[in-house]
Formats: sequence, C-alpha cells, structure tokens
Amino acid sequence: MPQMPYVIDEMISAKTIAARVEALAHEIRAEFADTDKLVVVGLLRGSFVFIADLVRELDLPVEVDFLEASSYGDGMESTREVRILKDLRGAIEGRDVLVVEDIVDTGFTLGHVIHMLQGRNPARLRVCALLDKPSRREVPVKADWTGFEIPDEFVVGYGIDYAQRNRNLPFIGKVRFVDVSEKPQ
Ligand code: IMP
Ligand code: MG
Repeated sequence: MPQMPYVIDEMISAKTIAARVEALAHEIRAEFADTDKLVVVGLLRGSFVFIADLVRELDLPVEVDFLEASSYGDGMESTREVRILKDLRGAIEGRDVLVVEDIVDTGFTLGHVIHMLQGRNPARLRVCALLDKPSRREVPVKADWTGFEIPDEFVVGYGIDYAQRNRNLPFIGKVRFVDVSEKPQ
C-alpha cells in the first residue's frame, strides 16, 4: 500500500517513559506483593518493549505470556472486530494476572480481551496500559494503571507501529503527514 510521506514529532521522551514505567512498577508491585507468581500477559505486538521494561522494574516472581489480538491491520482505524490470532500458552484459572497493553483507543481490543480472560476465572485480573486516548473511547473500559493520557493523535515508537514501521524508536512520537505537492516557502 503506497503511503503518504510522514515525519515523526517527539511527544514523550525515552527518559520520561522510563521514569513513568518505574513509578507504575512500584504501584503494581504493591498491589501484587502477596502473589505467589504473577502472570504478566503482553498483548502483541505493540506491548513488547513496554512489557520488557516493566517486568524488569517489577521485582516480583513473574511468568510472562503473550496474547495476540488484532483489530487494526495496516490502517489507522480500528475495524472494531477483534480476532484472537494467538492465545495464551498457560492456564490462568485461579491465578493473578496483569494484562499489559500499549494503547487503549476505542476500547474494543481491551474490552474483548478482558471479557475473554475473565471467563477463565483468574483470581485477580488487572490491566496496565502505557497510553490512553480517552477522547476516542467507544467501549467503556479503563486500565487500572495508565502511563500517559494522550490526545487523539496517531503515535508510534516504543513498540508501537504505523503499518509495521517505527516500533524501534526509543521515544513516542506523533505521525504528521507531509504534503509533498506543497512548494517550500
Ligand atoms: P482499540 O481496540 O481501538 O482500543 O485499539 C487498540 C489497539 O489499536 C492498540 O493496542 C494499538 O495496537 C492500536 N492503536 C491504537 N491507537 C494507535 C496509534 O495511535 N498508533 C498505533 N497503534 C494504535
Ligand atoms: Mg495493540
């Protein structure tokens, strides 16, 4: 699919993200201090950088598992139809579970995943999302911990992609399209 050229404007620096991840880990650790072995579930693929940083700050016995749900394809809009592309490897019945998501946008993805995982009777199910775009919400879901609330902008970096690109940026930036037909001033 040919794409309009775009530039990425930094929105949240790597340093700011690191400080926030540390603070989130501190709060999460307090919540699960009595847990035998926490199951940390990363939603692929966007959460892979966040979950890697978060678990290293957690200082708790953890098991890491992954779930892949898809509602986006290569576009910028949710299709509102959530499909499970890869399920968890382990059972979560009776376990304490922390779901780690990159962005809560319309809420369709998280709503579907929470409903599905609740059906497996975990002891405790909590959600930590790095980013939240509350103005975009269509399904009433809220993470128990949120890294940053952001306005309605399309963002990339720190694991988050635009058509599978820019996941490896160390910061979070917003995508700005450039009209190449415009003559420079
Ligand atoms: P929702 O189902 O509309 O809440 O969409 C959530 C998923 O859409 C996130 O897990 C992301 O993978 C993706 N997403 C939402 N907003 C953005 C964005 O600004 N950039 C890249 N991916 C996004
Ligand atoms: Mg995602």
